[in-house]
Amino acid sequence: MTEARATSRLRAATSAPYDVVVGEQLLAELPGMLGEEVRRVAVIHPRALTASGEAVRAHLVDLGYTGQLIEVPDGEEAKLAPVASLCWQVLGRAGFTRSDAVVTVGGGATTDLGGFVAATWLRGVKVVHMPTTLLAMVDAAVGGKTGINTSEGKNLVGAFHEPAGVLCDLATLETLPPLELASGLAEVIKCGFIADPTILELVESDPAAAVAPDSSVLRELVERAIRVKIDTVTADLRETGGSGAHPGREALNYGHTFGHAVERVERYAFRHGAAVAIGMVYVAELARLAGRLDEGTAERHRSLLARVGLPTSYPGGRWPLLQEAMKVDKKTRGDHLRFVVLDGLAKPGILRAPDPELLTAAYAEIARDA
Ligand code: GLY
Repeated sequence: MTEARATSRLRAATSAPYDVVVGEQLLAELPGMLGEEVRRVAVIHPRALTASGEAVRAHLVDLGYTGQLIEVPDGEEAKLAPVASLCWQVLGRAGFTRSDAVVTVGGGATTDLGGFVAATWLRGVKVVHMPTTLLAMVDAAVGGKTGINTSEGKNLVGAFHEPAGVLCDLATLETLPPLELASGLAEVIKCGFIADPTILELVESDPAAAVAPDSSVLRELVERAIRVKIDTVTADLRETGGSGAHPGREALNYGHTFGHAVERVERYAFRHGAAVAIGMVYVAELARLAGRLDEGTAERHRSLLARVGLPTSYPGGRWPLLQEAMKVDKKTRGDHLRFVVLDGLAKPGILRAPDPELLTAAYAEIARDA
């Protein structure tokens, strides 16, 4: 048996501080995160991760907890009101009190659903996330955003509910399909552009290692991206705004306004990270055309994302559809479209109500023949 990789502990110093632990074989950390009072634990996992969910439950039962397994559908199908309702039913029947807890084992959809169930049961019980994808480790599991989808759109119902801890077992990345890993890397690269340029240098100097699940480079990237996420949400947990020109937590939406529109137009058949990659190239072009970002940094988006196999262009002729899809973001943010842009490396800002001609000109820069 090879030795487990060393453990790192990243502290999220919010009003209820918690640790994000990165390493391997991390189950021993779980009781400390659950705390003294917890007796019953519900382990929420997608169908595809039944064995992992059961391993966590069995471990907790061995330690004297009452463990309940709740299987939910794979992927976004889990983020639906009837699934949340089923989870509440299980908790109710098992007599879960306010001092019991939820553990999620899975990707971002499981984390969002399980976090939402924990946020709403008895107005909030503890949740510990055990993310199994790169995307969930660096984004969904950290920062307390939870939610489900409705027929009107994604994440329209939810709550801010910070975890009691997050356990990122790097070994789970070794079984991720390569496209899934690259998708998660888009969020890592986003953290590089908005806050930590060392991330960009690491990917540029060894793109193969950046997508090698057992490499020390990927580990460093994971830790750096989590650090960016922690620092950003700690400064603005409820996304009410940053200080000075910094957009606060909204900076994490870099590339997401256009990226979400791509996902909607593609009826969610596109990987989130791939859509965000295109969204970042789009918004870099938008900032360049608006005179806010230099050409070199805009071009760096394209070259860097391409080096790890992420898309940097989108078929032309879809502007009306994309524009329509972006209105959902507009609805959720006020009267005008707003984009997180860069005023330079690691200098995020907001571009409000851009000129429609600028929007179409930026699209022309990323459009390719369908
Ligand atoms: N995924 C963006 C955020 O947590 O704010």
